Amino acid sequence: MKRMKAVLTVCLLGALLCACGPTDGAPEAAAPTAAPVLLGFSQLGSESAWRVGSTRSIEEAAERHGVSLMMLNAYQKQEKQIDAIRSFISYRVDVISFAPIVEDGWDTVLTEAKTAGIPVILVDRLITTQDESLYACFVGADFIKEGRSAGEFLLKKADAMGASHLNIVEITGTEDSTPQRQRHQGFHETIEGDERFTVLESISGDFLVSKGEECMRYLLDKYGEDIDVLYSHNDGMTLGAIDAIREYGLAPGSDIIIITVDGEQAAIDLLKAGEINCVVECTPNLGDAVMELAKKLAAGESVPKTSHPDEEVFTEFDDLSDLAPRGY
Ligand code: AHR
Repeated sequence: MKRMKAVLTVCLLGALLCACGPTDGAPEAAAPTAAPVLLGFSQLGSESAWRVGSTRSIEEAAERHGVSLMMLNAYQKQEKQIDAIRSFISYRVDVISFAPIVEDGWDTVLTEAKTAGIPVILVDRLITTQDESLYACFVGADFIKEGRSAGEFLLKKADAMGASHLNIVEITGTEDSTPQRQRHQGFHETIEGDERFTVLESISGDFLVSKGEECMRYLLDKYGEDIDVLYSHNDGMTLGAIDAIREYGLAPGSDIIIITVDGEQAAIDLLKAGEINCVVECTPNLGDAVMELAKKLAAGESVPKTSHPDEEVFTEFDDLSDLAPRGY
């Protein structure tokens, strides 16, 4: 709250300075400058390097676009996100934006925003609602496509190995979140019906490095060397899982095929080193798109309901020598 007040004070001071007339003796300004758009953004937490990159992208883009930003971190708690949205409504921001930690449970607070006439941008993740008018638009990855890309890599890899059978374990993200649901769905749809694959178990690692390691230890204790493939919903959990695999005495990337999502620099480095086999990109760099949408909504313009960034897939079959540093 203190940080939000501090940021708000800076914003209001900035707005006041813009709105004030010239001081005595100063030349008359040609036209009054429009007050900057005030955007309230509720970030869901700091669970991964990806999320830290996402926060940075929003902050840097706000500066570039001249948008006044009130950013609050919910530290992985939906109640804190709801409180943040209510604070933004009280402050009468121009636009509210948030990355919903889970999909359910937003109707009441979003109805309050709608009643206050404040448009809402969903960033990164979706919500479940019967009333789509509760948000103006969504900008974020196509997580089903990401899951499909993970599955398509596995089909290609199995063909290349001439594998007759592969056992898969899956470490998923935060339960009831859009990336967890859709990355699971896209992957399973793609390999379904192919008798070469058996999914031994799917468990949640909450998108955390520590839980990824914990989950992989549990899976190795239970299935040992029967595990052929790890499909992990984010790089953070993959890094934790790789520690557990090494500790168990197996070689990540060769004894166990590893497919991960995000595209953090650390994962790309391990892909290049042969310890990860496939990295499906999910970009955290949504800041510019969010600011463009916020400015349009504040000006009363219409915006597309859904926008997805372009994303790539990096695999052991590709030449990665020219890949630019990832920045997250
Ligand atoms: O919602 C995007 C996911 O959230 C990223 O894949 C993950 O790293 C983050 O925690």
